Amino acid sequence: MSSTTSEPTSSPQRVLITGGAGFIGSHLVDQSLRSGHEVVVIDNCSTGSATNIAHHGDRVRFIENSLSDGLNQIESDEPFNLIYHLAAAVGVDLVLKDPIGSIRTNIQQTDAILEFAREHGRPPTFIASSSEVYGKPGVSVFSEEDDSIYGPTSISRWSYAHAKAIDEYLALAYTAQHGLPVVVARFFNTVGPRQLGSYGMVLPRFVQSALNNQPLRVFGDGQQSRCFCDVRDVVAVLPKLMACSDAHGKVMNIGSDRSVSIQELAKRVIEVTGSESTIEHVDYSDAYPAGFEDLRHRKPDLTRLRSFVEFDYKYTLDDTIRDLAEVLLAESNVRSGAM
Ligand SMILES: NC(=O)c1ccc[n+]([C@@H]2O[C@H](COP(=O)([O-])OP(=O)(O)OC[C@H]3O[C@@H](n4cnc5c(N)ncnc54)[C@H](O)[C@@H]3O)[C@@H](O)[C@H]2O)c1
Repeated sequence: MSSTTSEPTSSPQRVLITGGAGFIGSHLVDQSLRSGHEVVVIDNCSTGSATNIAHHGDRVRFIENSLSDGLNQIESDEPFNLIYHLAAAVGVDLVLKDPIGSIRTNIQQTDAILEFAREHGRPPTFIASSSEVYGKPGVSVFSEEDDSIYGPTSISRWSYAHAKAIDEYLALAYTAQHGLPVVVARFFNTVGPRQLGSYGMVLPRFVQSALNNQPLRVFGDGQQSRCFCDVRDVVAVLPKLMACSDAHGKVMNIGSDRSVSIQELAKRVIEVTGSESTIEHVDYSDAYPAGFEDLRHRKPDLTRLRSFVEFDYKYTLDDTIRDLAEVLLAESNVRSGAM
């Protein structure tokens, strides 16, 4: 592990979290408040929701606005010690439905936050990238220095990967040209409570179907594999990276390196939720537009991450499925009680 690894400071800090009303962002808000920090969130609630952070009441300053407009609501004499940028247009379905909006959001908002950080004291700034940046490299274990290989621009699915790659270039350029200490993380499949299935995310989609005793729709033969990491394990490592100066100016994978096939995932969901659902195989051509390419296997090499900080899992996949099911069930009880 890096010789300059340091533990996050225990003294209260001012933290700005973009996308803080979203899935991963809201868990980071929870954790930051638990650490005693003062938290400001900017989120336009396009895919996130104010209810994800409502339990904190006025302990969070919530600026409900698009990122660039929200940044204008922050006074210049309000310095931040840490900035986490998670706001983005996320999910295959959203990218396919609104490619222009997704490309603009994912590039322009990252530029806006980097410029804001440069102008406001250059605090450590976290940029959320994605394993999608690797494209389809022809290997199943992805390591940060691997080449990225994308499909043609006529297939808009790849625009998300390109936009996130531009974000990485921008972030690294801010380090090189302005000395901004950035940490760029390529998140792999992150799962857990508050994740929505409505944007094409597989685990909440499966859990919701299982709770409704409806068939779990597995695309293709189900032998494609992914590594799912609980969001609470993911956010736990972020402050450690921000506190580690050796990690600044670096791009690194964050996720689980425990593979599971999608078929096996569906089985686990049915078992853990005690559902009567069956598994239904659906052809890719029935699920996505022509030319859509899915990767067979996707697993992070975590060597670089672990060279900087300690990273272990507290949550098993079954824990995550159980907790996600509990939240979805509670939400549906509230909805049916309200009717
Ligand atoms: N969940 C995953 O598995 C995963 C994998 C790879 C990368 N990521 C990245 O992690 C970050 C968080 O993703 P998430 O899974 O929590 O998704 P999410 O959709 O829950 O969070 C994104 C948040 O950004 C907000 N947002 C979108 N556009 C905005 C704008 N213009 N201004 C202000 N707010 C805006 C949304 O309302 C939402 O709350 C994203 O950058 C995403 O690309 C996530």
